[in-house]
Amino acid sequence: MINPGNFVPQITADGSFTFFSQEFGEHFHSHYGARQESFLKFAAPTQLSLKAKKQVVNLLDVCYGLGYNTAAALETIWSVNPNCHVELIGLEINASVAESAIKHHLFDTWNSEYQDILQQLAFTQQVQTNRLTAKLLIGDARNLIERVQNSGFLADAIFLDPFSPPQCPQLWTLEFIRQVALCLHSDGLLATYSCAAAVRTALIVAGLTIASTPPVGRRTPGTIAAWESKQNTNLCNLSNLFLPLSQPEQEHLLTRAAVPYRDPQLKDSPEIIINRRTQEQKASCLEPTSHWRKRWLIKN
Ligand SMILES: C[S@@+](CC[C@H](N)C(=O)[O-])C[C@H]1O[C@@H](n2cnc3c(N)ncnc32)[C@H](O)[C@@H]1O
Repeated sequence: MINPGNFVPQITADGSFTFFSQEFGEHFHSHYGARQESFLKFAAPTQLSLKAKKQVVNLLDVCYGLGYNTAAALETIWSVNPNCHVELIGLEINASVAESAIKHHLFDTWNSEYQDILQQLAFTQQVQTNRLTAKLLIGDARNLIERVQNSGFLADAIFLDPFSPPQCPQLWTLEFIRQVALCLHSDGLLATYSCAAAVRTALIVAGLTIASTPPVGRRTPGTIAAWESKQNTNLCNLSNLFLPLSQPEQEHLLTRAAVPYRDPQLKDSPEIIINRRTQEQKASCLEPTSHWRKRWLIKN
């Protein structure tokens, strides 16, 4: 059952507000800072300040939520190049999240242009201005992603921001991530806060190359991904600007934690997806993750 929108604002350490989802049993952002997370985990790693030098930048915001990632992206781009035209597509299953954020005035400290954009997106699901064409598609991202692909939209930056894999495995599966990757431009960058081995494996199996983004607030890093191709300038960017996977991170990908979530028809329930993975882990010849943890003195 989708939460009808009784979201109560909760303050985070940087003074911005987030919500708690009863349905998923998780906050929408880390308690270190909702606003900070959007800038440091998504807008900065996808190099929007550099991409802003282009005339047009395409953004795909997977799990739009309250709209922080979109707002941070627009502010980052327009502070560098006010004339950059942004084409944005947001995917979100629950329209009342963004509506509640507006009703609770969570963006009142932002410049009025961003407030207007987020308000229109929340209540009419589209915005057209002289420098923005934005659509918020409401529904299960597993279905919506096909529409995005069929439209030929190729993103310069993708923000992949579902709830955590144990709570929302359906948006971290091999099959879903493969579809998301197909919406990434050959020079584009995909950012996520997750460093889960199963997520990283799915990105790699989808054909992307990955690196770590610096930890923000929490102790674990995030992940940045790009297409692996000779022409792709992101490849040098990834190794120069981001952290190559450390030895423990590389070895993590050889443990049972790296068995990816699967959802062959993109329609299974979280329980089925988790059970399928648990069975696959039990039958796996990969090293138990507990051995890896012990070897590298990594706490749970
Ligand atoms: C961690 S929050 C995202 C926070 C958001 N990026 C922001 O900046 O505020 C995860 C979001 O995923 C949405 N969601 C959960 N399942 C989904 C699905 N199957 N398809 C699309 N969105 C989904 C939730 O409603 C929630 O808004």
